[in-house]
Amino acid sequence: MNTVKVGLLGLGTVGGGTVSILQNTMDEISRRLGQNIEVVIIAVRDINRARPVDTTGITITDNTAEVVNHPDVDIVVELMGGTTLAKTLLETAIENGKHIVTANKALIAEHGNALFNKAKEKGVLIGYEAAVAGGIPVIKAVREGLAANKIEWIAGIINGTGNYILTEMKKPGADFAQVLKVAQELGYAEADPTFDVEGIDAAHKLTILASIAFGIELQFNKVYTEGISKVTADDIRYASLLGYEIKHLGVASRAENGYSLRVHPTLVPKNVLLANVNGVMNAVMAKGNHVGPTMYYGPGAGAGPTASAVVADIIDVIRWKNQPQADQVPALAFAQDKLESAPV
Ligand code: NDP
Ligand code: HSE
Repeated sequence: MNTVKVGLLGLGTVGGGTVSILQNTMDEISRRLGQNIEVVIIAVRDINRARPVDTTGITITDNTAEVVNHPDVDIVVELMGGTTLAKTLLETAIENGKHIVTANKALIAEHGNALFNKAKEKGVLIGYEAAVAGGIPVIKAVREGLAANKIEWIAGIINGTGNYILTEMKKPGADFAQVLKVAQELGYAEADPTFDVEGIDAAHKLTILASIAFGIELQFNKVYTEGISKVTADDIRYASLLGYEIKHLGVASRAENGYSLRVHPTLVPKNVLLANVNGVMNAVMAKGNHVGPTMYYGPGAGAGPTASAVVADIIDVIRWKNQPQADQVPALAFAQDKLESAPV
């Protein structure tokens, strides 16, 4: 059986989950795919740190360039985060003709337009399903499943850490800082948790969702962004007395002269489905003109759910490599329709 070689940038929460899935589920995956997937090299910051996964036979390096220039690597999987080094490395990987899979929503939201163009030029794919809503295959659902529709709006709970905090804060005596610390320990939070609590992470994700839903360019700097850092336990209690839950929502809708993208805490009536999405769970609703309202629910962060989406993208890239018609794998960026540069 043929083997596709993968190089990873990062072996933290998501990188560890990805290696673990590839090690523990390879029999099942390769039986369905007809090919093996082998991780040959992983770059980390600290090569001496003990890792929760078995790295026997894998080259572990602190030289990130080694991964993107590795002659045997077919797919570079970027799971280190950040937008500076990660961008440079992925540009090099694309230049070298490697396909990309990434969970990095900041990178896609802020630099995706340029990266997608470069990928298109070089004929390589960028998979980024894991960048939005963790384990929920929402990018595929909206781009493929709702392809027949004009999407009227897309909205949802798209930050697991924030939703976990708002849920825990309902418990008597809960303390914001303490709950955030637990979310970090559980691997839900960004390296800089300000991104979670100030709405930046949700804004990155909404930028990506809106781009797919409306076929517009990624325009992160146009998103109205407000987080949950000012929400108090009293706010949550009073909202509840009035029949509401406070949820941090991302909402993208069509507006008179373009589109409206915003993330902020929102009063959601308790009898609405979104009000009952708790803990690290995410939920995204999209309304299509033919299908009506649809909803996608699942774990929005954490090693297993996010790595599930990463590995699914690796598999999609391999399927495309075997039958390289762009329309075989429409969820990948290479197949993105022509984008409209519309005001947001
Ligand atoms: P972690 O902080 O757990 O892991 C980051 C990994 O990248 C570590 O292994 C780290 O090395 C390595 N790394 C970071 N900087 C460098 C560098 N300069 N050179 C070499 N290696 C480096 O992050 P996560 O796994 O949580 O997140 C990774 C990406 O996935 C981010 O883009 C994040 O936004 C995204 N994501 C995360 C989710 C989650 O639930 N955690 C969900 C969805 C997306 P070392 O281990 O030595 O420090
Ligand atoms: N920090 C992010 C969250 C990770 O909590 O939703 C998943 O994208």
